[in-house]
Amino acid sequence: MRVNLTSLVVSLIFLVGLTGNAIAVEYDHETEVRGMTFSWKVADGNLHVKLMGKTTGWVGIGFNPTEGMKDANYVLGYVKKGKVEITDDFGNSAINHKSDEELGGTNDVTVVGGEEKGRATTLEFSIPLDSGDKYDSVLDPEGTTVVLLAFGGNRDSFRSKHRANAIINVNLSTGEVQ
Ligand code: HEM
Repeated sequence: MRVNLTSLVVSLIFLVGLTGNAIAVEYDHETEVRGMTFSWKVADGNLHVKLMGKTTGWVGIGFNPTEGMKDANYVLGYVKKGKVEITDDFGNSAINHKSDEELGGTNDVTVVGGEEKGRATTLEFSIPLDSGDKYDSVLDPEGTTVVLLAFGGNRDSFRSKHRANAIINVNLSTGEVQ
């Protein structure tokens, strides 16, 4: 019997989404900064991300701001009682962000898993390189992507400000980080 590989992968992702548990996705690149680890790979028009922050609250990533936090595409999440909560946000000002859906856009994050362990939170998810939503930036893997990383205090709330943040320049294809 021939098994269609695409259906198999889609089914696996679906099953994992149902259970909320992480499976061993192989990431091609990894970088660490200020208590955060960002692992990723680019495949099939998507960016697959694993994000760890030393907090029991939220951990988040942002792409391509214009000024401070403004205009960046954010994915933030926390794990509460084993359940992964993830939001797709947009930088509506230099110092804040709002959910794409509240702004009239769409949620384009596929949750793969997440866990809270040893006072650290890990999220795994994927986003399209070009979702078509005007509240998501188009990611060019060959160019330089400005990546914002941050985590909040030990509170499961998206309202609390960051306890740590960082800005890095990444070539998503080669893994070069500046
Ligand atoms: C409720 C959530 C958030 C609030 C209230 C908030 C607020 C702020 C404020 C007031 C600043 C100005 C500088 C400062 O006071 O530290 C700032 C800067 C910054 N934020 Fe956020 N932030 C939030 C979430 C995030 C998230 C999710 C990220 C990234 C994933 C992020 C990344 C940054 C970065 C990198 C800066 C420095 C920008 C620069 O220096 O150009 N923030 N934020």
